[in-house]
Amino acid sequence: MKQDGADKSKRRFLTGAATVVGGTGLVLTAVPFINYWLPSARTKAAGAPVEVDVSKLEPGQRVSPEWRGKPVWVLRRDERMLETLPELEDQLRDPESKVASQQPPYAQNRHRSLKPEYLVLVGICTHLGCSPLFEPEPGVYGDDWLGGFFCPCHGSKFDLAGRVYQGVPAPTNLVVPPYRFADDGTVVVGEDPQDGGAA
Ligand code: FES
Repeated sequence: MKQDGADKSKRRFLTGAATVVGGTGLVLTAVPFINYWLPSARTKAAGAPVEVDVSKLEPGQRVSPEWRGKPVWVLRRDERMLETLPELEDQLRDPESKVASQQPPYAQNRHRSLKPEYLVLVGICTHLGCSPLFEPEPGVYGDDWLGGFFCPCHGSKFDLAGRVYQGVPAPTNLVVPPYRFADDGTVVVGEDPQDGGAA
């Protein structure tokens, strides 16, 4: 009996100790969790708008800054590139950019941009996230290729406005991020034109 009583009190002690340890563990793990979710200065900076100097871009050239950890392309389309845009629309999945999530309202037009000349895109394939290749020359990926972006992972094709072809794995057009022109030679990625505020 004495032995049983000793065992019981030992069990009570162990149970109590486990509870305390468990409780302490909860407190110890809760604090870093809360800290983890507080946005750091670095995280805030990573979401900040990015200014892109396009003043020296020649027609046909592209720059690739990073915004929010993603590649962004700013392409200055030349006349030939712009002329291709109406030509293959019957082969595109969403030629009128009706899927609203893929661009801001001010880019819901044939050229998918504020100014026809400048195309701004997030350079990530809408299938599984590879980065497509820029191939401006016609005919490189078949007779229906007038230049655009080709994803090497599973063969998705996008035209020179980032609009996806039919019959490829990518379900939607490439994303146009929010952006505005601060002046003729400066694009600000991450801000809308209406208010100049952070998007
Ligand atoms: S990730 Fe681009 S086609 Fe699959």
